[in-house]
Amino acid sequence: MSAPQHPTQLQGISLESIAQQFGTPLYIYDGEKIVTQIKSLQTAFATVPLKIKYATKALSNISILKLVKKAGGGVDAVSIEEVKICMLAGFSASEIMYTPSGVNFREIQEAVELGVMVNLDSIPLMEEFGAVYGDTKPACIRINPHIMAGGNAKISVGHIQSKFGISIQQLPEILDVVKKYAINIVGLHIHTGSDILDAEIFLKGGNVLFEAAMNFPNLTFLDFGGGFKVAYKAGDPFTAIEEVGTKVSAAFNVFCEKYGRKLELWLEPGKFLVSESGYLLVESTVVKKTPQLTFVGVDSGLNHLIRPMMYDAFHDVYNISNPEGELNPYNVVGYICETDTLAKDRMLAKVSKGDLLVFKNAGAYGISMASNYNSRLRPAEVLVWEGKAQLIRKREEFEDLLRNQVEIAI
Ligand code: LLP
Repeated sequence: MSAPQHPTQLQGISLESIAQQFGTPLYIYDGEKIVTQIKSLQTAFATVPLKIKYATKALSNISILKLVKKAGGGVDAVSIEEVKICMLAGFSASEIMYTPSGVNFREIQEAVELGVMVNLDSIPLMEEFGAVYGDTKPACIRINPHIMAGGNAKISVGHIQSKFGISIQQLPEILDVVKKYAINIVGLHIHTGSDILDAEIFLKGGNVLFEAAMNFPNLTFLDFGGGFKVAYKAGDPFTAIEEVGTKVSAAFNVFCEKYGRKLELWLEPGKFLVSESGYLLVESTVVKKTPQLTFVGVDSGLNHLIRPMMYDAFHDVYNISNPEGELNPYNVVGYICETDTLAKDRMLAKVSKGDLLVFKNAGAYGISMASNYNSRLRPAEVLVWEGKAQLIRKREEFEDLLRNQVEIAI
């Protein structure tokens, strides 16, 4: 159950040398780890026709998307922009699922015109979709299964008070609209939340899908969403993917017998594929002792990694510059004019100004949730792939902040 040791190198290249070459703050991803995660899902679900639809929102760099494609994955996109990036990365329209949440219908039409299947998440959207397309375009329905699951309230999205999906209790209405427009429903979808540990939750969700599915004769797939939990520190529990694979696949195969046809099983992992592949490298800018605490200030903050502030998420951090140093308690804080505590009360090897600190689990919802708050620049990104560290996003420059600003005469 323990997380891996703190790495000092990826594929034989030291993290320090990458930081020297590209500067800090810097996001670094280990491409091999992403491929390993994809393979472990494929192994865990080997007895069903599995399609992996990577949740692009977790990390949407085009080079990462290309890597996912090369490893055999498809994608789930949540905005028309994500759809377009995925297409630029080489995904065909049929490999992309578009799962919008309450977007303008124009955006839905744009996706449909690109040939991308839409996951319908409200009855009004089903009505609009049916009125325009009738039975001419295949579609999926996002069901809200009313299951309370997820690491915290903000990322629990399958319960009865969640904005997502169409309530399973509204199935009769769903069926009425499908019938009214003869909408060609080829898939049913659920996504109950993120950081879900328990295999039983995926089974419970599956049972909701199985029951609903008997009302839809044209299905080709059932989509179980994402949400597998990864370890954020040594000893942290993580989803036992083999157990989920074995149990869900067995139930799925039994269901397919009953349904009378072999369907595809879709999964939409984000964190599971990319969280552990990513590292955020920052430099210590000041070590500041106060009467009660010792703060390490770094050249980063909530503008680069918002998860600790937004979800009280724990990101392990270590001092790569002084690995043998005596351990001391620190609060690692950002340079933003907010209380952006990135790591609270952590034992780190003695930190000096200029040391390089490494945050782990920075691959998922790291740079994809970054901003320019405090007029700060977003970091560069580097992918280590086939033994080479290559820049996959340039560091922002001052001009980027001004690019879309319009200065008027005052
Ligand atoms: N499918 C759908 C429809 C989703 O909304 C999500 C995530 C996923 C799949 C992937 O979930 P994952 O496997 O990554 O748990 N920013 C939060 C997580 C928000 C997840 C939003 N939806 C965080 O950093 O914890």
